[in-house]
Parts: sequence; structure tokens; C-alpha cells
Amino acid sequence: MKVLGISYGRKMSNTEILVKEALMGAKDAGAEIEFVRMQDLTIKPCTGCNACVISLFEKAGSGDCVITGDDFVFIDEKILEADGLIIGAPIYEKMAPGHLKNMADRQGPGHDLAFRTIAKKIRAEHGITHGKGPDERSFKQRAASLIAVGGSEWDNLALPMMHLSTVSMQIEVVDKMLINWIALPGMVALHDEKLERAYQSGKHVVESLKGNVEEAKYIGDKGVCPLCNSKLFEIRNAENGQMAVCAVCGVKGDLEVSSNEVSFIVQPHEAALAHVKLSGKFNHARELKEVSLVPHPNVAALPEKLEKYKNFIEASRPSK
Ligand SMILES: Cc1cc2nc3c(=O)[nH]c(=O)nc-3n(C[C@H](O)[C@H](O)[C@H](O)COP(=O)(O)O)c2cc1C
Repeated sequence: MKVLGISYGRKMSNTEILVKEALMGAKDAGAEIEFVRMQDLTIKPCTGCNACVISLFEKAGSGDCVITGDDFVFIDEKILEADGLIIGAPIYEKMAPGHLKNMADRQGPGHDLAFRTIAKKIRAEHGITHGKGPDERSFKQRAASLIAVGGSEWDNLALPMMHLSTVSMQIEVVDKMLINWIALPGMVALHDEKLERAYQSGKHVVESLKGNVEEAKYIGDKGVCPLCNSKLFEIRNAENGQMAVCAVCGVKGDLEVSSNEVSFIVQPHEAALAHVKLSGKFNHARELKEVSLVPHPNVAALPEKLEKYKNFIEASRPSK
């Protein structure tokens, strides 16, 4: 069993130390471990070319990203090889760093487990042997622990963003840790209880992988969403009959507030649509095929409509 630790933080600083503690736990629990510091890598942003989706949906291809000239293939390969992941990120502007978002976008639809499953099925049904299909390692179960480290309590979007970065590949998040008030480089090494918590997190990733990951215990702070333990919601004030949407798994439900607790009530048919579930991903694939990828009835008029914008203004660019 392989566990990969990924740190988006500074070299030998707080995030890296916590990720390494978790890796020590994973190693002691019997895993083979590896560590990647994302600041050593260059990950270009997604360009929105959609080649990954076209590859899966129209060619039953691999879904691989076509951007070259950076380190994405290196880290993608490490993630595909891994069973367990320890993902650590410093909090920047209440969010995870842009590097993590670049990774999430680059994996994005091309790594979506439902999309890859559909492409694999089409290949099998039609006996397609030419070209490359989805990587077989996409289909194995994975578990992750998420560790966010911030210098204050400005943290609201950090763990939700980190959780979202695991959704496409259907990685089961079995622990989330939020470490506040650690700002100066390396200071977390002086907090034994936080180090111990990270060590146990790494161990738990390995224990989770020994059984059925989908049934693994979640040991992080109990969230409000029963599907993904998120505490971040968009309030929609009973739009379509439901009051709120979980910002991570997208499930719709009703919020019930008692004197000291908020509960999120989700009906079973809505729970099946959660983006953290494979059933929710298949539903998303169906929606795309039936709605957003269907050309507008007046598509023939598009080239003429675009003329208005084509020559309206030139984009300013830096001189080379
Ligand atoms: C650009 C930038 C933005 C930051 N924004 C936040 C923030 O919104 N909330 C917070 O708690 N800490 C914030 N911090 C502090 C870091 O999260 C903190 O120093 C953390 O320990 C860095 O992790 P590292 O030592 O692993 O790099 C910010 C730091 C930087 C460099």
C-alpha cells in the first residue's frame, strides 16, 4: 500500500512538518511512503480546452490533460500510483493556495471517475483497442487526510476547497484537520498535540484502506453535512423547496436550527446526487450529455453573432 504526502507549504515549514508527521504514522501502520513538495513543481493553469472531456465522451480515450511543459504528469503519476493521500495546504486569503486549485482544475473533468468509467465501458462494449483508454489505476479505491494550516482564523474556504480537489477522483476523505494560529515558519514543531494528531491521521488513512474505504470511519471534526462533513453552505431560502446547498458535495436539503445545533436534513433521493458519490457523478455526466453539451437550436447563427465581439477590442498583452 502506497501513501503519498503532498505539501503546498513552504519548505520545512508548518504544512510540510504536519504532512511528514502523518507520513510517519502511515509508515508505522505499514505503508510505503513518498513525499512531494508542490513548491518544487510548476503546474500551469487549465486553459479550458476541454480536450479531456472530448477524449472521454467522444473518443472513449484516456481523459488525460494535453497541456505540456510543466510537472503535471509527474504529480498525476504519483497520485495514480498512490492508494492513500495526505494533502496539506497553508491557508492563503482564507482559501487553499492557487497551486492546489490549478491541480484541481487540471485533474477536474478528465479524472472524473464516472466519466472515466463511461469511457472504459464504451471501449469494452465496442471492442475498441486502438489509442489509450482511461488509466486502470483510476478505478482503485483511495483515501485521504486533509490538513489546512493558517496563521489566524481566516479559514472558511480552505478545507472546503481542499475537499473539492479530491472529488473528481472519488477519493474518500477520512479525516480533515484545521490548524489555526500557526503563522511563523516551522512553529508547529513546538506543538506536540498537533503533531500527534497528524501522526494519527496518517495511521488512519492506512487503516481505512485495509477495509472498504467507502465504509471507513471519518475521524475529523464532525461537520454539518451528513454526506461530506462540510460546514459550508449556500442559503437558498427554499428555492425549489430546499433551503440550502452544501458547498462541497452540492447536496440540497433543509437546515434545522435548535438552541445550540444546526442540522442539515437531506432526503435519500437527494443524497444519491451528492457529488462525492459515484451515483452523483453519473447523474452529472447525464446532465452534461442531455443539457449543457447539446448545441443550441440556433447554433448556425453563432459565427455571425460572434463577429460583434471579435474585433471590438484587442486584449492588452505584455511586450515580449
Ligand atoms: C499570501 C498569504 C496569505 C495568507 N492568508 C492567510 C489567511 O487568510 N488565513 C490564515 O489563517 N493565514 C493566512 N496566511 C498565513 C499562513 O497560512 C501561515 O503562515 C501558514 O503557517 C503557512 O504555512 P507553511 O508554513 O506551511 O507555509 C497567509 C500567508 C500568505 C503567505
